[in-house]
Amino acid sequence: MNATTIKAGVMGWPISHSRSPRLHGYWLARYGIDGTYEALAVAPEDLAEQLGSLRDQGFAGVNLTVPHKKAALAVVTSLSPTARAIGAVNTVVVGADGKLEGDNTDGFGFLENLRQDTAGWRADTGPAVVLGAGGAARAICHALAEAGAPEIRIVNRTLTRAEALAGDLIGPLMPWSWDDRGTALAGIALVVNTTTLGMVGQDPLDIYLASLPTEAVVNDIVYAPLETPLLVAAAARGNPVVDGLGMLLHQARPGFEAWFGRSPEVTAGLRAHVLGSEP
Ligand code: ATR
Repeated sequence: MNATTIKAGVMGWPISHSRSPRLHGYWLARYGIDGTYEALAVAPEDLAEQLGSLRDQGFAGVNLTVPHKKAALAVVTSLSPTARAIGAVNTVVVGADGKLEGDNTDGFGFLENLRQDTAGWRADTGPAVVLGAGGAARAICHALAEAGAPEIRIVNRTLTRAEALAGDLIGPLMPWSWDDRGTALAGIALVVNTTTLGMVGQDPLDIYLASLPTEAVVNDIVYAPLETPLLVAAAARGNPVVDGLGMLLHQARPGFEAWFGRSPEVTAGLRAHVLGSEP
């Protein structure tokens, strides 16, 4: 490392499970960039101080993960319209003047993943179903609304959270009860699981797919495992399926480009590296 090395990283608590250092490390090596990307363990009570000292420590910026995405709203100097609408920051860029610009690239990553994996995919071809109403659902609903989805059915176990999400965002958002999740699939063009169901150690997502049109795209943002029971069932009946790793990879692109000055590509080599355990 020398004076011209560009520094970036990811702040979380805990941070040891983050895949972001492998992801950015792959791109830095691939493009021969003199840069580093570190995992930064930052306790919640230290977030403001650590973000405030990024410039003095020579950082071009950071990603933020659990539990810092909401707390950062009050710390950064400026917010992109997307970060403000979603109410969470996942990417911080340190400006030349030392100001901290907060953005949220999760929705971008979600859309770009579908576009890359499903040739010709567009949000405006039909209604979408979003299963879940947490932070990931918020970013995805915002992205779908901005991209022109004609109707977004938010189906959540706790109906009041679906109602709150529909009320907070601008767009054709409809809260649906969890009991009606099978019926909600009728006539749609896309269904995305943002709940934790199907993740390693969790129950599978229990949903009856009979009403789902066979041309509808089925996306799970769970990526451990890559082939969730939902994706296996959807593929077996002929639906196009998109796994969750790509959203993680694509959401990293804007930060990498802002910090390191190169627009990176999501490739099979990157996927294999992020999934692997070799150094
Ligand atoms: P994130 O911010 O990562 O999206 P989250 O806010 O914890 O995570 O949201 C998890 C989502 O999974 C929620 O929509 C949650 O439903 P509730 O709002 O009712 O809690 C959903 N979820 C988790 N376990 C579930 C289960 N057993 N059945 C149905 N939905 C579940």
